[in-house]
Amino acid sequence: MDQRRLRCKELEEKVMSAEEAAQFIKPGMTVGTSGFTPAGYPKAVPLELAKRAENGEELKLTIMTGASVGPEIDARLAESGAMVRRYPYQTNGTSRKKINEGSVKYVDMHLSHSSQQIKAGFLGPVHVAIIEAVAITKDGGIVPSTSVGNSNIYVEKAEKVIVEINTSQPLELEGTHDIYDIPLPPHRKPIPLTKVDQRIGVPYIPCDPDKIVAIVETDITDKSRPVAPIDEISEKMAKNLIEFLSNEVKENRLPENLLPLQSGVGSVANAVLAGLANSPFEHLTVFSEVLQDSVFSLIDCGKVDFASGTSITLSPEKLETFPEDIKRFKDKIILRPQEISNNPGLARRLGVIAMNTALEVDIYGNVNSTHVSGTRMMNGIGGSGDFTRGGYLSIFTTASTAKGGAVSSIVPMVSHIDHTEHDTMVIVTEQGVADLRGLDPVERAECLIEKCAHPDYKDQLRGYLEEALQHKGKHTPHNLEKALSWYTRLAETGTMKES
Ligand code: COA
Repeated sequence: MDQRRLRCKELEEKVMSAEEAAQFIKPGMTVGTSGFTPAGYPKAVPLELAKRAENGEELKLTIMTGASVGPEIDARLAESGAMVRRYPYQTNGTSRKKINEGSVKYVDMHLSHSSQQIKAGFLGPVHVAIIEAVAITKDGGIVPSTSVGNSNIYVEKAEKVIVEINTSQPLELEGTHDIYDIPLPPHRKPIPLTKVDQRIGVPYIPCDPDKIVAIVETDITDKSRPVAPIDEISEKMAKNLIEFLSNEVKENRLPENLLPLQSGVGSVANAVLAGLANSPFEHLTVFSEVLQDSVFSLIDCGKVDFASGTSITLSPEKLETFPEDIKRFKDKIILRPQEISNNPGLARRLGVIAMNTALEVDIYGNVNSTHVSGTRMMNGIGGSGDFTRGGYLSIFTTASTAKGGAVSSIVPMVSHIDHTEHDTMVIVTEQGVADLRGLDPVERAECLIEKCAHPDYKDQLRGYLEEALQHKGKHTPHNLEKALSWYTRLAETGTMKES
């Protein structure tokens, strides 16, 4: 492997400081950046933009990314007022606060939709792309770092490209990426991907060197978060989910090595993947978006044969050994653009088992993943909808209660809907598993209440259903006023529990 990071001769004169590169970004512009979960996002140039805003410049930028990024963008640019509009996903406390205060306009999108809509120009022009890379090839090809996300789209669409070559990211990442471009309709052809481990593209993002206006060298590391220890509730949910999958194998509805797994991120997702290490399943594959610590542990213990995603997000301790570890994992992983990793058509084709987390689920199986009590944005829908709609099996996990028991996660009617009853097949809480497949709405309600609700809320939910059944509309019975009262009671008394 060529150990040089910058191999394109004509680009050598474009190496400059982050401060100089940031000057290509003018007030009011739309900036598209690399990054998906806090991995592979640019850091040095955004920090210079934050400094300009802190010094009083009214930048008013629109920031588009792959998904969530680190604090250099979502905290500093939000706090300094440099960012006024944000697409398509975030998880940062500061940007969340600004979004919920109304000072940052946030468009929460399916991650697979974001790629197509940006490419089609639905969201307006992209003035500048800032892409983190481990190297630039001799023809100007950009070798991404720990994520691909929407970087290929931003490089294609942007008028100017700034590349941050990050020397803290191991050069051994070169060769893990597989960049495949989906043209806009009517020029589409079937995506030639039929197996998780298949390569269909090239290992760099093609880019005309003339389009690259600046190259910045940096060694600022990805700001990853420690993995939360697995608590008893997550462990129970993981156990319930694994038992459900085992039974599906016994019933011949799944092969012995299951089907490609997609899993969200967070404590439950981590517990589920950790639980697989002690399960009877072998030769598993992963077709997901984020490859986190647990995926690499499953590769190491021989449970997972291959993992495909769009980003690698590791805990701080795993990041330390990553430059060595990547050599071992390199031929077992592929990083793809998010319009491939999250492609609902591919999730359907490969038969993905989609496992995501809900904030709350209603008795008919509608899921809210994004808005606390219907109004306060948490993170966003992310890729959960991409996999849920297309998946062979669509599973949601949630603890049966939140906020120390004051909130029931099983409610009469969710306060916001991200995934409809038509998409959700199986709900898992620490109480049990509700298999909703083939059930009509009232059967679903009975099943969800009995299998998944917390004992403290079972009678209240049963009472709601019985009362609703007295009204007209026996297919999906509701008493809208009573359904809403669960949230007004929470707001007024601090608990959903009836006194
Ligand atoms: N009502 C109010 N608050 C609730 C709640 C409910 N029904 N359910 C959970 N919460 C709160 C928790 O109390 C916690 O609050 P805190 O941060 O103040 O402690 C917070 O929501 C996160 O809950 P937690 O139980 O720690 O879950 P998590 O870290 O696994 O995250 C989601 C759960 C739903 C927020 C997260 O999975 C998500 O953003 N999902 C949508 C995107 C997605 O699916 N991504 C994966 C594919 S990209």
